[in-house]
Amino acid sequence: MSKITAAITGVQGYLPENIVTNDDLAKFVDTNNEWILSRTGIAERRIMKDGASSDMAAEAVKALLEKKGIDPLEIELVVLATVTPDYPFPSTANVVCDKVGMTNAWGYDLIAACSGFIYALQTGAKFIESGTHKKVLVIGVDKMSSIIDYEDRTTCVIFGDGAGVVLLEPNEEGLGVQDAILKSDGGGRKYLIQPAGGSAQPASIQTVEERLHYVKQEGKTVFKFAVTNMAEVSAEIMEKNNLTADDVDWLVPHQANLRIIDATAQRMGLPKEKVMINIQKYGNTTAGTLPLCLWDWEKQLKKGDNLILSAFGGGFTWGAVYLKWAYNS
Ligand code: UT7
Repeated sequence: MSKITAAITGVQGYLPENIVTNDDLAKFVDTNNEWILSRTGIAERRIMKDGASSDMAAEAVKALLEKKGIDPLEIELVVLATVTPDYPFPSTANVVCDKVGMTNAWGYDLIAACSGFIYALQTGAKFIESGTHKKVLVIGVDKMSSIIDYEDRTTCVIFGDGAGVVLLEPNEEGLGVQDAILKSDGGGRKYLIQPAGGSAQPASIQTVEERLHYVKQEGKTVFKFAVTNMAEVSAEIMEKNNLTADDVDWLVPHQANLRIIDATAQRMGLPKEKVMINIQKYGNTTAGTLPLCLWDWEKQLKKGDNLILSAFGGGFTWGAVYLKWAYNS
């Protein structure tokens, strides 16, 4: 019997309708379009007015199941990556299963910040490869606007809200997830963190007054780690799998900063045409960036294409996944 691999057999995204441009932000924080565009590549982002992360995820899942003609009852497992869960508990995966009617599924949330989707993809793939599950949803969703300080110009210009989901199914042609290199370094928490609201600093009047429920980032330091590690791990997975730049059809990079994406593509020897970039439209949607790229590029992807997904984020967490695309749409 041939080995079972975990293939992505469908992808869908969801973005809130509300568009916030750089000029909109400049109305209430000391910034400008030129700075944001040149330092990050971001022109606009989507900000959710009403609702929670589960609402964006549920919309993406419903659209995917409808597109694929799959009954919600067929879904067996939901792995949901987020740093903006609806609640500390129950898990957002639970809530999404309820909202979509996936009553036969079990599910859980996974926290790995901007690397959340690749961590979740690798985890979901293992349930397929082991033969225990046949239909697994991997979701990346973040309502970053719920934890961003709109008085802090160094962070509020970067992030946006959005969700993406992929369906994983068994494949016997060798398509789907081929390899993953995932890394973490908890020492990085000093530089990128939401300090309060967990068990270390439970919510109190003081934590609210000190604005500790918002994302705190030492941008320059994170940039240095991101630019080095995302490029290195992407090159490492190519070498490990004997892939040359010609063999790689697409780089699917986390959308944190255009300069980090460019450095990664350069290290891999890839021309711009092979790099998925949509940061200008959505900003950094944290766990949402990679499935949103796959969704935006779905029609251009061909069966057998070699994709490298790559990310770096809070934790620190980082890594890369090598996968073979499994269908023509
Ligand atoms: O996805 C999770 C991982 N996160 C990342 O990968 C983010 C990594 N970091 C970055 O992308 C960049 O560091 C930022 C985009 C956050 C900042 O860009 P930078 O080129 O590193 O700028 P900087 O922090 O060195 O600041 C340069 C200047 C400073 O002014 P002075 O000290 O030179 O006078 C800042 O105060 O730009 C100023 N500045 C701004 N000016 C206008 C900082 N934020 C803004 C702003 N508008 N929004």
